[in-house]
Formats: sequence, structure tokens, C-alpha cells
Amino acid sequence: MFSFKKHVLVCTSEKPGHCAEKGGPELLAAFREEVAKRGLQNEIYVTKTGCTSQHHCGPTVIIYPDGVWYKLVTKEDIPEIIESHLLGGKIVERILNREIGLFRKQA
Ligand code: FES
Repeated sequence: MFSFKKHVLVCTSEKPGHCAEKGGPELLAAFREEVAKRGLQNEIYVTKTGCTSQHHCGPTVIIYPDGVWYKLVTKEDIPEIIESHLLGGKIVERILNREIGLFRKQA
């Protein structure tokens, strides 16, 4: 049985104008690499996802069970997402997609 604490979904949809054209597949690979480098594979599960209708601000990254959606995510954002959000429980506000998600504003 594989049990993890956080599920990271990276959009890699390949239709024209979708997240693949904006670096989604490279972002997925970099996220997996960073999680592995930190030895967090058993805590953080990184998978790709299809379109979630947010490609106008993609690449999209979604964190569950938190229901937090990030927009315009770059490879440079990955360490902060891991350290602040996934390990520290603090949303990275500057890339938070406020149009969608289950997130609650944190103090
Ligand atoms: S293609 Fe990524 S959200 Fe639509």
C-alpha cells in the first residue's frame, strides 16, 4: 500500500494553448526530480493531470488534500512550494490561483 501526505498534480495537457506549451511536462519532471532529491517520494506524490480549465494562467499545479491551485508556475517556484507549502503548510500567495480551489486564507 502506498500512502502519502500530499498529492501534487501538474497539468501537461497538450492541446494548442494548453499547459504543455507553457512548460507543463518540464515542470512535472523538475518537480519529481526535486522531490526525489530531497528524499520525499514517500510523502509527496507527483503526477500529471489533464486540463482543468485554467490554462489561461498555466502551467497549473494543484495540491491535494489542500485544494490549493497554483498558476503560472515555473521550475524556480518548486523549492518554495515544497518548503513553504508542502512541508511548512503555508500557501505560496504570490502564485496562488484565487479563481479556483478549496483553499482557505491562512494567517
Ligand atoms: S491545459 Fe492546463 S489547465 Fe488547461
